[in-house]
Amino acid sequence: MAELRPMYMSDLNTVVKIIEATDEDDAEEAREIYQEYGVEGQFVLEHDNKIIGVIGYSEVPGTDGTYWLSWTYLDPAFQGLGMGKQMLNDLLNMLREKNGRKIFVKVSDYDDPEDGRVYERAMKLYESVGFVEELVGKDFYDEGENQHIYGLKLRDAASDEEDEVEIADEKPVIRFDGMYEIGDSDGAYTFSWTVKDNKGLFEKRNFTVEDLRLGIDAVRNEGGRKIFLTFPSNLPLIHTPLQAAGFKFVGRLTDYYEKGVHELHFTHDLGNG
Ligand SMILES: CC(C)(COP(=O)(O)OP(=O)(O)OC[C@H]1O[C@@H](n2cnc3c(N)ncnc32)[C@H](O)[C@@H]1OP(=O)(O)O)[C@@H](O)C(=O)NCCC(=O)NCCS
Repeated sequence: MAELRPMYMSDLNTVVKIIEATDEDDAEEAREIYQEYGVEGQFVLEHDNKIIGVIGYSEVPGTDGTYWLSWTYLDPAFQGLGMGKQMLNDLLNMLREKNGRKIFVKVSDYDDPEDGRVYERAMKLYESVGFVEELVGKDFYDEGENQHIYGLKLRDAASDEEDEVEIADEKPVIRFDGMYEIGDSDGAYTFSWTVKDNKGLFEKRNFTVEDLRLGIDAVRNEGGRKIFLTFPSNLPLIHTPLQAAGFKFVGRLTDYYEKGVHELHFTHDLGNG
Protein backbone atom coordinates (compact mmCIF):
# COMPACT_ATOMS: atom_id res chain seq x y z
CA MET A 1 0.00 0.00 0.00
CA ALA A 2 1.35 3.42 -0.90
CA GLU A 3 0.19 6.49 1.03
CA LEU A 4 0.59 10.23 0.80
CA ARG A 5 2.03 12.14 3.72
CA PRO A 6 3.04 15.81 3.95
CA MET A 7 6.52 16.53 2.61
CA TYR A 8 9.19 17.94 4.97
CA MET A 9 12.34 19.87 4.12
CA SER A 10 14.30 16.75 5.19
CA ASP A 11 12.75 14.88 2.20
CA LEU A 12 14.24 17.39 -0.24
CA ASN A 13 17.21 15.36 -1.54
CA THR A 14 15.17 12.18 -2.04
CA VAL A 15 12.43 14.09 -3.89
CA VAL A 16 14.91 15.92 -6.12
CA LYS A 17 16.50 12.55 -7.04
CA ILE A 18 13.11 11.19 -8.13
CA ILE A 19 12.50 14.23 -10.35
CA GLU A 20 16.06 13.99 -11.72
CA ALA A 21 15.32 10.52 -13.11
CA THR A 22 12.95 12.18 -15.63
CA ASP A 23 14.39 15.67 -16.07
CA GLU A 24 17.58 17.15 -14.61
CA ASP A 25 16.58 20.77 -15.31
CA ASP A 26 13.23 20.28 -13.58
CA ALA A 27 15.02 18.73 -10.61
CA GLU A 28 17.26 21.77 -10.17
CA GLU A 29 14.35 24.15 -10.54
CA ALA A 30 12.22 22.14 -8.12
CA ARG A 31 15.02 22.28 -5.52
CA GLU A 32 15.19 26.06 -5.83
CA ILE A 33 11.44 26.45 -5.61
CA TYR A 34 11.08 24.18 -2.55
CA GLN A 35 13.94 26.06 -0.89
CA GLU A 36 12.51 29.46 -1.69
CA TYR A 37 8.81 28.85 -1.02
CA GLY A 38 8.90 25.89 1.40
CA VAL A 39 6.98 22.63 1.11
CA GLU A 40 3.52 23.60 2.35
CA GLY A 41 0.90 21.81 0.23
CA GLN A 42 3.49 19.29 -1.00
CA PHE A 43 3.18 15.55 -0.33
CA VAL A 44 5.32 12.47 -0.79
CA LEU A 45 4.07 9.00 -1.66
CA GLU A 46 5.50 6.39 0.73
CA HIS A 47 5.67 2.68 -0.01
CA ASP A 48 7.31 0.31 2.52
CA ASN A 49 8.69 3.36 4.37
CA LYS A 50 10.42 4.54 1.22
CA ILE A 51 9.57 7.71 -0.71
CA ILE A 52 8.60 6.80 -4.28
CA GLY A 53 6.74 9.88 -5.50
CA VAL A 54 5.94 13.55 -5.02
CA ILE A 55 2.87 15.67 -5.73
CA GLY A 56 1.39 18.91 -4.39
CA TYR A 57 -0.61 22.04 -4.93
CA SER A 58 -0.25 25.79 -4.52
CA GLU A 59 -3.18 28.13 -4.08
CA VAL A 60 -3.38 31.26 -6.25
CA PRO A 61 -3.68 34.24 -3.87
CA GLY A 62 -6.68 36.49 -4.41
CA THR A 63 -8.73 33.89 -6.32
CA ASP A 64 -11.81 31.93 -5.30
CA GLY A 65 -10.26 28.52 -4.57
CA THR A 66 -7.95 28.25 -7.59
CA TYR A 67 -4.91 25.96 -7.41
CA TRP A 68 -1.99 24.84 -9.57
CA LEU A 69 -0.74 21.29 -9.42
CA SER A 70 2.95 21.23 -8.40
CA TRP A 71 5.76 18.83 -9.33
CA THR A 72 4.22 15.39 -9.90
CA TYR A 73 6.78 12.64 -10.29
CA LEU A 74 7.05 8.92 -9.54
CA ASP A 75 10.18 6.84 -9.18
CA PRO A 76 10.50 5.18 -12.64
CA ALA A 77 10.45 1.69 -11.01
CA PHE A 78 6.86 2.37 -9.89
CA GLN A 79 5.47 4.04 -13.02
CA GLY A 80 2.66 2.54 -15.08
CA LEU A 81 1.13 0.64 -12.12
CA GLY A 82 -1.72 3.01 -11.37
CA MET A 83 0.08 4.73 -8.48
CA GLY A 84 0.28 8.09 -10.23
CA LYS A 85 -3.45 8.06 -10.72
CA GLN A 86 -4.02 7.08 -7.10
CA MET A 87 -1.85 9.87 -5.69
CA LEU A 88 -3.41 12.45 -8.00
CA ASN A 89 -6.94 11.38 -7.01
CA ASP A 90 -5.96 11.51 -3.31
CA LEU A 91 -4.65 15.05 -3.77
CA LEU A 92 -7.75 16.19 -5.69
CA ASN A 93 -9.95 14.80 -2.92
CA MET A 94 -7.97 16.79 -0.34
CA LEU A 95 -8.66 19.95 -2.34
CA ARG A 96 -12.35 19.09 -2.65
CA GLU A 97 -12.47 18.78 1.14
CA LYS A 98 -10.91 22.26 1.39
CA ASN A 99 -13.68 23.43 -0.97
CA GLY A 100 -11.23 24.12 -3.80
CA ARG A 101 -12.98 25.30 -6.96
CA LYS A 102 -10.60 24.75 -9.86
CA ILE A 103 -7.12 23.32 -10.46
CA PHE A 104 -4.75 23.83 -13.39
CA VAL A 105 -1.60 22.07 -14.54
CA LYS A 106 1.07 23.01 -17.09
CA VAL A 107 2.73 20.33 -19.19
CA SER A 108 5.42 20.51 -21.86
CA ASP A 109 5.17 18.49 -25.07
CA TYR A 110 8.96 18.13 -25.26
CA ASP A 111 9.94 15.49 -27.79
CA ASP A 112 13.28 14.05 -26.70
CA PRO A 113 15.43 12.68 -29.57
CA GLU A 114 16.02 9.48 -27.54
CA ASP A 115 13.09 9.17 -25.14
CA GLY A 116 10.27 10.61 -27.28
CA ARG A 117 7.46 12.62 -25.66
CA VAL A 118 8.50 12.41 -22.02
CA TYR A 119 5.31 13.93 -20.64
CA GLU A 120 2.83 11.98 -22.76
CA ARG A 121 1.93 9.66 -19.88
CA ALA A 122 1.38 12.66 -17.60
CA MET A 123 -1.03 14.19 -20.15
CA LYS A 124 -2.93 10.88 -20.36
CA LEU A 125 -3.04 10.74 -16.59
CA TYR A 126 -4.51 14.25 -16.28
CA GLU A 127 -7.10 13.51 -18.96
CA SER A 128 -8.01 10.22 -17.30
CA VAL A 129 -9.12 12.04 -14.11
CA GLY A 130 -11.09 14.70 -16.02
CA PHE A 131 -8.63 17.52 -16.80
CA VAL A 132 -9.40 19.27 -20.09
CA GLU A 133 -6.83 21.12 -22.22
CA GLU A 134 -7.69 24.84 -22.07
CA LEU A 135 -4.84 26.45 -23.98
CA VAL A 136 -1.58 25.82 -25.79
CA GLY A 137 1.28 28.34 -25.53
CA LYS A 138 3.16 27.72 -28.76
CA ASP A 139 6.98 27.69 -28.40
CA PHE A 140 6.57 28.66 -24.73
CA TYR A 141 9.46 26.64 -23.28
CA ASP A 142 11.61 26.78 -26.40
CA GLU A 143 11.25 26.82 -30.21
CA GLY A 144 9.08 23.77 -30.96
CA GLU A 145 8.35 23.02 -27.28
CA ASN A 146 4.82 24.09 -26.41
CA GLN A 147 3.09 24.55 -23.07
CA HIS A 148 -0.25 22.81 -22.60
CA ILE A 149 -2.45 24.03 -19.75
CA TYR A 150 -5.16 21.71 -18.48
CA GLY A 151 -7.96 22.66 -16.08
CA LEU A 152 -10.31 20.66 -13.87
CA LYS A 153 -13.40 21.81 -11.97
CA LEU A 154 -13.16 20.52 -8.42
CA ARG A 155 -16.63 21.36 -7.18
CA ASP A 156 -19.73 19.54 -8.28
CA ALA A 157 -20.66 21.55 -11.35
CA ALA A 158 -24.45 21.04 -11.11
CA SER A 159 -25.29 23.94 -8.79
CA ASP A 160 -22.48 26.11 -10.18
CA GLU A 161 -23.71 25.83 -13.74
CA GLU A 162 -27.10 27.34 -12.98
CA ASP A 163 -25.76 30.37 -11.14
CA GLU A 164 -25.89 33.25 -13.59
CA VAL A 165 -23.00 35.51 -12.74
CA GLU A 166 -22.78 39.10 -13.86
CA ILE A 167 -19.23 40.35 -13.98
CA ALA A 168 -18.76 44.09 -14.14
CA ASP A 169 -15.90 45.52 -16.20
CA GLU A 170 -13.18 47.17 -14.14
CA LYS A 171 -10.96 50.03 -15.21
CA PRO A 172 -8.08 50.24 -12.75
CA VAL A 173 -4.81 51.99 -13.63
CA ILE A 174 -2.35 49.28 -14.66
CA ARG A 175 1.37 50.02 -15.03
CA PHE A 176 4.25 47.71 -15.90
CA ASP A 177 7.02 47.57 -13.31
CA GLY A 178 9.36 44.85 -14.50
CA MET A 179 10.41 42.38 -17.15
CA TYR A 180 11.91 38.93 -16.63
CA GLU A 181 12.63 35.64 -18.38
CA ILE A 182 10.06 32.99 -17.45
CA GLY A 183 11.83 30.50 -15.14
CA ASP A 184 11.40 27.22 -16.96
CA SER A 185 11.69 28.67 -20.48
CA ASP A 186 14.51 29.49 -22.83
CA GLY A 187 14.00 33.02 -24.13
CA ALA A 188 10.32 33.56 -23.17
CA TYR A 189 9.77 36.77 -21.19
CA THR A 190 6.93 38.39 -19.35
CA PHE A 191 6.24 41.79 -17.80
CA SER A 192 5.09 42.23 -14.25
CA TRP A 193 2.41 44.83 -13.64
CA THR A 194 0.73 46.50 -10.72
CA VAL A 195 -2.59 48.14 -10.14
CA LYS A 196 -2.14 51.72 -8.92
CA ASP A 197 -4.70 52.44 -6.24
CA ASN A 198 -3.24 55.80 -5.48
CA LYS A 199 -4.40 57.73 -8.53
CA GLY A 200 -2.16 60.74 -7.97
CA LEU A 201 -1.42 63.30 -10.65
CA PHE A 202 1.18 61.10 -12.37
CA GLU A 203 -0.62 57.82 -11.85
CA LYS A 204 -3.78 58.47 -13.83
CA ARG A 205 -2.52 56.90 -17.02
CA ASN A 206 -3.03 53.21 -17.87
CA PHE A 207 -0.26 51.46 -19.81
CA THR A 208 -0.09 52.52 -23.42
CA VAL A 209 1.22 51.12 -26.66
CA GLU A 210 4.45 53.10 -26.07
CA ASP A 211 4.96 51.35 -22.72
CA LEU A 212 4.54 48.01 -24.46
CA ARG A 213 6.99 48.97 -27.21
CA LEU A 214 9.61 49.93 -24.59
CA GLY A 215 9.15 46.50 -23.00
CA ILE A 216 9.33 44.74 -26.37
CA ASP A 217 12.60 46.54 -27.22
CA ALA A 218 14.05 45.65 -23.83
CA VAL A 219 13.25 41.95 -24.36
CA ARG A 220 14.68 42.11 -27.88
CA ASN A 221 17.92 43.58 -26.46
CA GLU A 222 18.13 40.66 -24.05
CA GLY A 223 17.87 38.25 -27.01
CA GLY A 224 14.38 37.05 -26.04
CA ARG A 225 12.22 35.06 -28.50
CA LYS A 226 8.73 35.70 -27.23
CA ILE A 227 6.72 37.65 -24.68
CA PHE A 228 3.77 36.13 -22.84
CA LEU A 229 1.34 38.30 -20.87
CA THR A 230 -1.73 37.35 -18.89
CA PHE A 231 -4.60 39.52 -17.62
CA PRO A 232 -8.02 39.00 -16.05
CA SER A 233 -10.88 39.08 -18.56
CA ASN A 234 -12.77 41.97 -16.96
CA LEU A 235 -10.28 44.73 -17.90
CA PRO A 236 -11.55 46.24 -21.18
CA LEU A 237 -8.82 48.91 -21.40
CA ILE A 238 -5.96 46.49 -22.04
CA HIS A 239 -7.05 45.28 -25.46
CA THR A 240 -6.41 48.32 -27.64
CA PRO A 241 -2.75 48.90 -26.62
CA LEU A 242 -1.97 45.14 -26.70
CA GLN A 243 -3.35 44.84 -30.21
CA ALA A 244 -1.65 48.04 -31.41
CA ALA A 245 1.72 46.76 -30.13
CA GLY A 246 1.31 43.49 -32.03
CA PHE A 247 0.25 41.12 -29.25
CA LYS A 248 -1.92 38.19 -30.32
CA PHE A 249 -4.59 36.48 -28.21
CA VAL A 250 -3.56 32.90 -27.37
CA GLY A 251 -6.55 31.69 -25.39
CA ARG A 252 -8.04 31.73 -21.91
CA LEU A 253 -8.11 29.77 -18.69
CA THR A 254 -11.81 29.64 -17.94
CA ASP A 255 -13.06 30.88 -14.54
CA TYR A 256 -9.45 31.32 -13.38
CA TYR A 257 -10.02 34.10 -10.83
CA GLU A 258 -13.62 33.28 -10.00
CA LYS A 259 -16.63 32.02 -11.91
CA GLY A 260 -16.97 34.32 -14.94
CA VAL A 261 -13.51 35.95 -14.64
CA HIS A 262 -11.04 34.16 -16.91
CA GLU A 263 -7.31 34.56 -17.41
CA LEU A 264 -6.55 35.84 -20.91
CA HIS A 265 -3.18 34.96 -22.47
CA PHE A 266 -1.42 37.09 -25.10
CA THR A 267 1.85 36.62 -26.93
CA HIS A 268 4.26 38.66 -29.02
CA ASP A 269 6.71 36.94 -31.33
CA LEU A 270 10.08 38.70 -31.67
CA GLY A 271 11.28 36.47 -34.46
CA ASN A 272 14.52 35.62 -32.58
CA GLY A 273 13.91 31.86 -32.67
C1 LIG B 1 3.09 10.97 -14.83
C2 LIG B 1 3.17 9.91 -13.74
C3 LIG B 1 3.11 10.59 -12.37
C4 LIG B 1 1.96 8.98 -13.92
O1 LIG B 1 1.96 7.99 -12.94
P1 LIG B 1 1.87 6.43 -13.34
O2 LIG B 1 1.68 5.67 -12.09
O3 LIG B 1 3.03 6.11 -14.20
O4 LIG B 1 0.56 6.38 -14.23
P2 LIG B 1 -0.67 5.40 -13.99
O5 LIG B 1 -0.18 3.98 -14.03
O6 LIG B 1 -1.40 5.82 -12.77
O7 LIG B 1 -1.53 5.67 -15.28
C5 LIG B 1 -2.28 6.86 -15.41
C6 LIG B 1 -2.78 7.00 -16.82
O8 LIG B 1 -1.66 7.16 -17.68
C7 LIG B 1 -1.86 6.44 -18.90
N1 LIG B 1 -0.76 5.52 -19.09
C8 LIG B 1 -0.34 4.52 -18.29
N2 LIG B 1 0.74 3.93 -18.82
C9 LIG B 1 1.00 4.56 -19.98
C10 LIG B 1 1.99 4.42 -20.99
N3 LIG B 1 2.94 3.50 -20.92
N4 LIG B 1 1.98 5.30 -22.04
C11 LIG B 1 1.04 6.25 -22.14
N5 LIG B 1 0.08 6.41 -21.21
C12 LIG B 1 0.06 5.59 -20.14
C13 LIG B 1 -3.16 5.76 -18.81
O9 LIG B 1 -4.10 6.56 -19.53
C14 LIG B 1 -3.51 5.79 -17.35
O10 LIG B 1 -4.87 6.01 -17.17
P3 LIG B 1 -5.90 4.75 -17.10
O11 LIG B 1 -5.45 3.95 -15.91
O12 LIG B 1 -7.23 5.41 -16.94
O13 LIG B 1 -5.73 4.02 -18.39
C15 LIG B 1 4.47 9.08 -13.85
O14 LIG B 1 4.44 8.27 -15.01
C16 LIG B 1 5.73 9.91 -13.88
O15 LIG B 1 6.27 10.24 -12.83
N6 LIG B 1 6.20 10.25 -15.07
C17 LIG B 1 7.39 11.03 -15.26
C18 LIG B 1 7.28 12.43 -14.71
C19 LIG B 1 6.17 13.27 -15.30
O16 LIG B 1 5.89 13.20 -16.48
N7 LIG B 1 5.60 14.13 -14.46
C20 LIG B 1 4.60 15.06 -14.86
C21 LIG B 1 5.23 16.40 -15.03
S1 LIG B 1 4.05 17.56 -15.62
